Amino acid sequence: MLIRNETPGDSATIGWLVTQALRLLPEATGTEARIVEKLRADGALALSLVAEDAGAVIGYLAGSAARIGTQDGWGLIGPLVVLPSRHRQGIGTALMAEALRRWRASCRGAALVGDPGYYGRFGFRAFPGLTVAGCPPEVVLALPFDGTAPRGELVHHPAFGLDQQA
Ligand SMILES: CC(C)(COP(=O)(O)OP(=O)(O)OC[C@H]1O[C@@H](n2cnc3c(N)ncnc32)[C@H](O)[C@@H]1OP(=O)(O)O)[C@@H](O)C(=O)NCCC(=O)NCCS
Repeated sequence: MLIRNETPGDSATIGWLVTQALRLLPEATGTEARIVEKLRADGALALSLVAEDAGAVIGYLAGSAARIGTQDGWGLIGPLVVLPSRHRQGIGTALMAEALRRWRASCRGAALVGDPGYYGRFGFRAFPGLTVAGCPPEVVLALPFDGTAPRGELVHHPAFGLDQQA
């Protein structure tokens, strides 16, 4: 398996994969593929990593710049998806490891909204006062690279449609 940057020919496959992987998730909105398209169109896909095996795209991770409170310099992970027939083979872990490796050099830390049962294994956790409007605080997670506790609203790129103050 190879983890590589998205290339221009990948965009349709990425959209299909995001939709396939998230369709069974109760919290999915059905707009996640569109979010990736909007980020791409806006030049805001700071990371767009594809997992490829035998020429097929089987996993994908998007990363974009985010703010926590007034603090710029955070990397927002999501969506992260793996083809359902390839779950539990370490593909999500490999994509996340590469994203964190790259961002350690350039970001204060990484953040996301997701299941602490999964993302805890990478060191993500909730922090007091770390919020996203409308989300339970236990799913708003961060991994500060210098260990400093982040506090405030995790402000996503407008493509996520969260109606936050950018
Ligand atoms: C979540 C997801 C990306 C994980 O990818 P993956 O390649 O299957 O993950 P890995 O193989 O690296 O890790 C699998 C491990 O995570 C665990 N795991 C997967 N989803 C989990 C969850 N929601 N809660 C707790 N553990 C979870 C598996 O049980 C497995 O544990 P094990 O290694 O102890 O057996 C994949 O299941 C997926 O695409 N799910 C649907 C989309 C989604 O939920 N994306 C995240 C929100 S955007």
